Amino acid sequence: MKQARRTLRRIALIGFGALGQVIAGELQAGHLPGVEFLGALVTGTVPHPGLRSSWSRLEDLLAAGPDLVVEVAGQTALESHAPGCLQAGCDVVAASVGALMDASLRARLWDCARQGESRLLIPSGALGGLDYLRAARRLGPVHVNYRGCKPVAAWRGTAAESMIDLSTISKSTVFFRGGAEEAAARFPQNANVVAALALAVGDPSAVTVELVADPGARTNRHELTAQGVAGTIRLSVENSPLPTNPKSSRVTAFSILDAVASHWGEP
Ligand SMILES: NC(=O)c1ccc[n+]([C@@H]2O[C@H](COP(=O)([O-])OP(=O)(O)OC[C@H]3O[C@@H](n4cnc5c(N)ncnc54)[C@H](O)[C@@H]3O)[C@@H](O)[C@H]2O)c1
Repeated sequence: MKQARRTLRRIALIGFGALGQVIAGELQAGHLPGVEFLGALVTGTVPHPGLRSSWSRLEDLLAAGPDLVVEVAGQTALESHAPGCLQAGCDVVAASVGALMDASLRARLWDCARQGESRLLIPSGALGGLDYLRAARRLGPVHVNYRGCKPVAAWRGTAAESMIDLSTISKSTVFFRGGAEEAAARFPQNANVVAALALAVGDPSAVTVELVADPGARTNRHELTAQGVAGTIRLSVENSPLPTNPKSSRVTAFSILDAVASHWGEP
């Protein structure tokens, strides 16, 4: 017999930056019916306006009793906090997918999820088409060429600054060519898409990456061509950046909300 569904599900965030604030705003506005926003795990002591409850220790977040935790804080935070959430039986949606390029962390998280009978969910984030890649890989190896092109401002504060002079480039410039693992390690704030691709095709070495700074770009553009036995997919996505953090795309927040909604059975 089916168990009666609980009417209210509770979500807590790890991180309350650009993505966290959009997600919290949507939840507080009731745009995911039946979901209550509990609060966020934050660093620092300055209270955030618009945040009812905040915690500095994971134990306090878990004590609030979330059903699901959304990580929107960065790779280090995912590595530090996701194991504890999963072990405590709390499902986790991970935004900082780049961290999962580390095979030992992946194995540790799957282990914690098994122990806690919980799930680690990976949203499609700034990109689409991951469902196609996951399906295609069942037919055989899939090779992906990915090109990520963002406005110059989006690369400030990243390793790109030591590879090109961002203040003087006048045209679209490729500053990185390499494999998915290297891209994720060197560009932790920007390589989540690359990691999501590598996980979708099940093999980081099957993904080659080009990263581009474009002074004329107003959007974050992702282009990929993937080929395998199933056929070929060519995808080009242009995302509006979040005004509060141009390194992140607005759609990512909604992809996370969508992952939560589908996880809880919303069509
Ligand atoms: N999957 C995707 O496609 C995708 C797209 C964009 C961003 N992201 C990831 O999402 C993360 C959040 O993005 P954002 O735009 O909100 O970044 P942001 O920098 O605006 O916000 C991150 C917030 O997390 C906080 N934080 C850092 N470590 C923390 C910790 N240990 N505990 C609690 N809070 C902590 C920071 O102080 C900051 O306020 C980024 O790390 C990025 O890697 C993923």
